Amino acid sequence: MAKIEGFRVKNFKSLKDVTLGRLWNQQQAQPLAPLTAVIGKNGVGKSTLFDAFGFLADCLKIGVEEACDAHGRGGFDRIRSQRQNKPIEFEVYYRENSKTSPITYELSIGLDKQDRPCVFKERLRQRRSGQGNYGQPYSFLALDNGKGIVWKGETKGFQIDETQNNFDLASLIKNIKSKTGKAKEESKKTELVELDDNRKLGIATLGSLKQHPRISAFRRFIEGWYLSYFTPDAARSMPLAGPQKHLNIHGDNLGNVVQFMEREHPKQFQNILQRIANKIPGINKIDTEKTNDGRLLLRFNDKGFHDPFYSQQMSDGTLKVFAYLLLLDDPTPPPFLCIEEPENGLYHKLLETLALEFREHATDREDGSQIFITTHQPYLVDALEPSEVWILEKGQDGFSVIKRANEIQIVKNLVDSGLPLGGLWYSDYLDRR
Ligand SMILES: Nc1ncnc2c1ncn2[C@@H]1O[C@H](COP(=O)(O)OP(=O)(O)OP(=O)(O)O)[C@@H](O)[C@H]1O
Ligand SMILES: [Mg+2]
Repeated sequence: MAKIEGFRVKNFKSLKDVTLGRLWNQQQAQPLAPLTAVIGKNGVGKSTLFDAFGFLADCLKIGVEEACDAHGRGGFDRIRSQRQNKPIEFEVYYRENSKTSPITYELSIGLDKQDRPCVFKERLRQRRSGQGNYGQPYSFLALDNGKGIVWKGETKGFQIDETQNNFDLASLIKNIKSKTGKAKEESKKTELVELDDNRKLGIATLGSLKQHPRISAFRRFIEGWYLSYFTPDAARSMPLAGPQKHLNIHGDNLGNVVQFMEREHPKQFQNILQRIANKIPGINKIDTEKTNDGRLLLRFNDKGFHDPFYSQQMSDGTLKVFAYLLLLDDPTPPPFLCIEEPENGLYHKLLETLALEFREHATDREDGSQIFITTHQPYLVDALEPSEVWILEKGQDGFSVIKRANEIQIVKNLVDSGLPLGGLWYSDYLDRR
């Protein structure tokens, strides 16, 4: 399963320049853990970081102009960091699987002459395999305002002068054209491309072509990201019957997923129901009932009562835990799963269990999702390791700064001596200001 080892955001709302984990030129940093939790006071940028992932995924799906307006973002001027006249930038350092070398994706978004959001630069490059930390990575996609070069095939790529962070397309083309001998043969794998719409990402267009397997894999990876906007009210809606494979982001197809699980994975589903029943006192069975008009009802059997309750009558917390466990037991889980404040509405003693469920899914399951959460809950953080927890704070200039809990020596020592991390946070060891 693909994993994000590092992520950098620049000039996106309060995230003027924030890096999590390892980047291609920051190899000394530890990669992101399979489970990551971001904590911090109100207004430090947790939701913004969550939305940075959402914005990037939207850019791929609907193009940068629409992405600036989607999900109530309010347009480019609202989402670009205040007082910054620079482009919004993202860098994703990821590994398609444990056997391949890491790939870096860079994207910069700005305004064109008509003040419309567009893609300035886009680039994909891969570290050379078997060379440790040495040697310049190969680029296999480089676009500058919709024009550029792409390299066909599963390995290698072309070289760009890494002394400059921004590549110069004209000299790159000249360089490739001037190659001779074996290098000339190799350079035949390069192709000049021009996109007809510079509001669409190159990875969206080129990633749909078979001759670019690495670009396609990266596109599929981002398309597979799952950002949960689960609301118990949505889960109470009564969808038309029909099994559906995955829970959607709002959770309003909960009943359809239940039907799918019942039909396709009856054993696993029994397991999930049992697990939920063990965690939520009082529930001993959950199943579905099809109404005469073809809708689907989710039915909960409460131990104390003879007749079942329907999801419309169930508590917010019960529906939420049920939805999260269902999500974690998805037979084909998303590669990257983001959940904002999963603790909302849950009984405090359930939080440790939930954190452990997240960890088990992300770490132990071969094809498990990498999980990213934001939280305000020390009880949830109690179950986490310092390397899994990132603390966001507001810097002197009002922009967010981030640090990893295991970088604070005293916190590391206290956790090593047996103190729980959430307790230390509560006692101001993590965000002191
Ligand atoms: N364009 C922008 N430039 C700079 N800062 C911005 C911009 N837009 C919003 N902000 C600031 O971003 C900050 C982060 O907000 P965010 O919603 O991410 O906080 P949060 O950590 O999720 O807080 P909470 O715990 O209350 O949910 C806010 O303080 C807001 O003032
Ligand atoms: Mg928030």
